[in-house]
Amino acid sequence: MIRSNLSRISRKILVMSGKGGVGKSSVAAYLALLLSRRGKRVGLLDVDLHGPSIPRLLGLAGGLEMPEKGVVRPHRFSESLVVVSLEMVLGDKDVAVIWRGPLKISAIRQFISDIEWGDLDFLIVDSPPGTGDEPLTVAQNIPDAEALVVTTPQEISLADVRKSIDFCRQVGMKMLGVVENMSGLVCPHCGETVSLFGKGGGGRMASRMDLPFLGEIPMEPAMVRLGDEGRLESLLEQEDLEVNRAFDRVLDGILQAG
Ligand SMILES: Nc1ncnc2c1ncn2[C@@H]1O[C@H](COP(=O)(O)OP(=O)(O)OP(=O)(O)O)[C@@H](O)[C@H]1O
Ligand SMILES: [Mg+2]
Ligand SMILES: [Zn+2]
Repeated sequence: MIRSNLSRISRKILVMSGKGGVGKSSVAAYLALLLSRRGKRVGLLDVDLHGPSIPRLLGLAGGLEMPEKGVVRPHRFSESLVVVSLEMVLGDKDVAVIWRGPLKISAIRQFISDIEWGDLDFLIVDSPPGTGDEPLTVAQNIPDAEALVVTTPQEISLADVRKSIDFCRQVGMKMLGVVENMSGLVCPHCGETVSLFGKGGGGRMASRMDLPFLGEIPMEPAMVRLGDEGRLESLLEQEDLEVNRAFDRVLDGILQAG
């Protein structure tokens, strides 16, 4: 089941990081939105069972679709973007999930095998931080997954990223590249860039570790606000923002690598 489902999906990208809160879910959701706007058929899978953020960022209310007995389809966000999150199965947004490893692994396997994803150009998988059961299950069940590692510029985050890279090498997962998020803030008053967490650390680390560097995403207050409001897709409309140019460059790198 897993194999036949996956054979209909061209590229599978696992978004991971060493540290929490570096913007994985935001990057995963926004890349999915951008890809679908460029005419790609995209699936977005949230395997962060403890703190699923994707439904919140996109303001998803509905659950999975069950058109007939035994058939489960992802939630359709738009014509070309479908989404699956554990939250859709559990229903209650505030329920705390206590999962043991084996349960988590089988839930993720079912997300991949039992849901009718259909034909997709991309499946973007958002994982919790670190190198635990979730990324491991993805790595083991999606043999051609590519890892996209998100980091922030400061050393404390970069140190943990090296662990993610080691993990990918150990499980034999292809590395798509590194993205530096929260890389400077363009001051809304004077237009100067304030490098809150420093800048360029992600790029330097990528080149030291011989990995593709896909680009720097600046801090963007509108990203926080729109994410909190559950309408991250509205950020797409603000074409003058540097964050959108930055994401476009990352997207170009991803498309070229395919
Ligand atoms: N480029 C950015 N500019 C401004 N805020 C950002 C940016 N990227 C992410 N954020 C904000 O940072 C917070 C954490 O982001 P997010 O939930 O995507 O991180 P995460 O790595 O998925 O966290 P977790 O490890 O808990 O899964 C959110 O409030 C989000 O809006
Ligand atoms: Mg997250
Ligand atoms: Zn200023």
